[in-house]
Amino acid sequence: MSSHPIRRILVTSALPYANGPIHIGHLVEYIQTDIWVRFQKLRGHECYYVCADDAHGTPIMLRAEQDGVSPQELIDRIWQEHRADFADFLIEFDNYYSTHSPECRHYAELIYRRLDASGHISRRVITQAYDPEKRMFLPDRFIKGECPRCGTADQYGDSCENCGATYSPTDLKNPRSVVSGATPVTKESLHFFFKLADFETMLKDWIGGGSIQPQMANKLDEWFTAGLQEWDISRDAPYWGFEIPDAPGKYFYVWLDAPIGYMASFQNYCDRAGLNFDDFWKPDSTAEVYHFIGKDIAYFHILFWPAELTGAGFRKPTAVNCHGFLTVDGQKMSKSRGTFIKARTYLHHLRPEYLRYYFASKLNDGIDDLDLNFEDFVQRVNSDLVGKLVNIASRCAGFINRRFGGRLAERLAEPALYAEFVAASESVAQAYEGREFGRAMREIMALADRANQYIDEKKPWVLAKQAGAEADVLAVCSMGLNLFRVLMVYLKPVLPGVAGDVERFLQIAPLRWNDVDTPLLGHAIAEFKPLMQRVDIAQIAAMVEESKEGRAEAPAQNAKAQALADDPIGPTVSIDEFAKVDLRVARILKAEAVAGADKLVRLELDLGGETRQVFAGIKSAYAPEDLQGRMTVMVANLAPRKMRFGVSEGMILAAGGPGGIYLLAPDGGAEPGMRVK
Ligand code: MSP
Ligand code: ZN
Repeated sequence: MSSHPIRRILVTSALPYANGPIHIGHLVEYIQTDIWVRFQKLRGHECYYVCADDAHGTPIMLRAEQDGVSPQELIDRIWQEHRADFADFLIEFDNYYSTHSPECRHYAELIYRRLDASGHISRRVITQAYDPEKRMFLPDRFIKGECPRCGTADQYGDSCENCGATYSPTDLKNPRSVVSGATPVTKESLHFFFKLADFETMLKDWIGGGSIQPQMANKLDEWFTAGLQEWDISRDAPYWGFEIPDAPGKYFYVWLDAPIGYMASFQNYCDRAGLNFDDFWKPDSTAEVYHFIGKDIAYFHILFWPAELTGAGFRKPTAVNCHGFLTVDGQKMSKSRGTFIKARTYLHHLRPEYLRYYFASKLNDGIDDLDLNFEDFVQRVNSDLVGKLVNIASRCAGFINRRFGGRLAERLAEPALYAEFVAASESVAQAYEGREFGRAMREIMALADRANQYIDEKKPWVLAKQAGAEADVLAVCSMGLNLFRVLMVYLKPVLPGVAGDVERFLQIAPLRWNDVDTPLLGHAIAEFKPLMQRVDIAQIAAMVEESKEGRAEAPAQNAKAQALADDPIGPTVSIDEFAKVDLRVARILKAEAVAGADKLVRLELDLGGETRQVFAGIKSAYAPEDLQGRMTVMVANLAPRKMRFGVSEGMILAAGGPGGIYLLAPDGGAEPGMRVK
């Protein structure tokens, strides 16, 4: 243990986007990384953990605009929230910074200039979707329209949620900009590209060198087979980010400066802590650099990033550690089910260490998804942490406090048993080192079982009633507390708060890994206070309930916010927003085919006195003549939309999917113009 040479280690977690709250899915990553870092520090290594907010890009720019604040105000506010959430989950960064920082600009420019100087940047004109009203180029997620394959309305520019088709935004039927509602046009512009293929050989060597998990290496092989494309690293104004040097109106794409944010955060820390940045980042550095990330962003971290670093004369990461995604009760997190749980909401109901322990018990070095199952969570926390771990201390402490003036025995009653606990040190350490946290937790809990078994056998509560057995009570309880102390050392990376309470209870300096070698003897301890309460399923139910309620309070979300929300579930609308939609009963006065549009029908609708023209994509299901005279429901206050064939002044409601299109209609008796609520 003490024979290990001291390692110099820099660790990062992915930088969360500065446009939304931290949720329990994110926490898989930050908890995993924090445990690993705390383990390294506990072992006495020189380890630094840095992170930052990912503060640039179109979604943040538009989000700020929508909230009526400047991007700077938005990212400042989110930065505060993120920091508070992480701190309260006991995630301890050495530095938590922002990509919108002078250091990040410095390294982004430096890396870009170096890549350019060595011929790794190319420039060419490309054609892209452009919002003529908002005067900006539109990322795929900011264009919606009808799926070119199945016709489903309201699909994003890259893929259809109904039939799964993938396509480019120009394939969408009736495309519109999510930002302004305008029909996008195509427009040319000069873009800058990073020539990834220049680094193919280097990447293949690096990947073969054990820096990434085998599952990821397979994924990479697929990417190599598909061919390494040039990577578009520029975006046109208006854009929220860093302007590219000597290229007015051109900005670095957010993913160019995002990983550079790792360096920026570390540089900022070095300046404060008096460390030498180059010691960690020069090409021949002997320090170790690890990035912890989710598998969704592997492409950026195991292809672009090592290539950029190499091209710019920096070292490559020692390893990129990918993890899988969190599901809740076997399903994707969902707002409607109340399983899209924000970090803050969790903290309203439960202690952070329950989740830290639960994730630890499920984490390994692979990329499989992991499931938070609420029953399992309650059972695991109550049985392992309360029933096994804390129980050891609470069964022994009272006797020591009350009968022996809080003073532990001078000698270990069972040195062999203690030695067994110490002997587990290397194996538990190896499990932590290899990110096999589940295995570490199982080994530790097996030891906890062993400690409880010892106390069960010795029965200090029986001894306490026997005359002349005082010394035995002291011996057994001192032994029990020493075993407990070893377990707390092993669990300290996972349960830093409990470990702190235990240090206060035992009146000892902060525990370090090597402390297990020396038992605590002839030492005065403090009064024992309960260390942890059982979890009740009712607390979970309340948390899920609050996560559901959170929906109604959520900030206004319209079609634009949908694209901004960056939320796998899909946004919700408040009752107020819903009330803005003016739904009316309408009678179809006239319906006719539209020349040149095989899906569209032109409708004239009677709204009870007022007549509206609407173009509806329902021709595949209805012959125009069958529609005449029918009643339906329309959105009466939809902003008029200019189409190739005329202005559409509303929208009629129909159910639709691969199974067909079904016009909605009120029951008999409804009159045109009636409000639908
Ligand atoms: N901003 C980028 C990362 C830039 S790193 C230079 C980003 N941000 S994120 O907020 O979307 O995600 C941050 C991290 O959280 C990512 O590693 C992502 O994989 C992880 N997770 C987000 N949701 C998750 C789950 N549901 N489950 C597990 N990890 C998840 O991506
Ligand atoms: Zn489709």
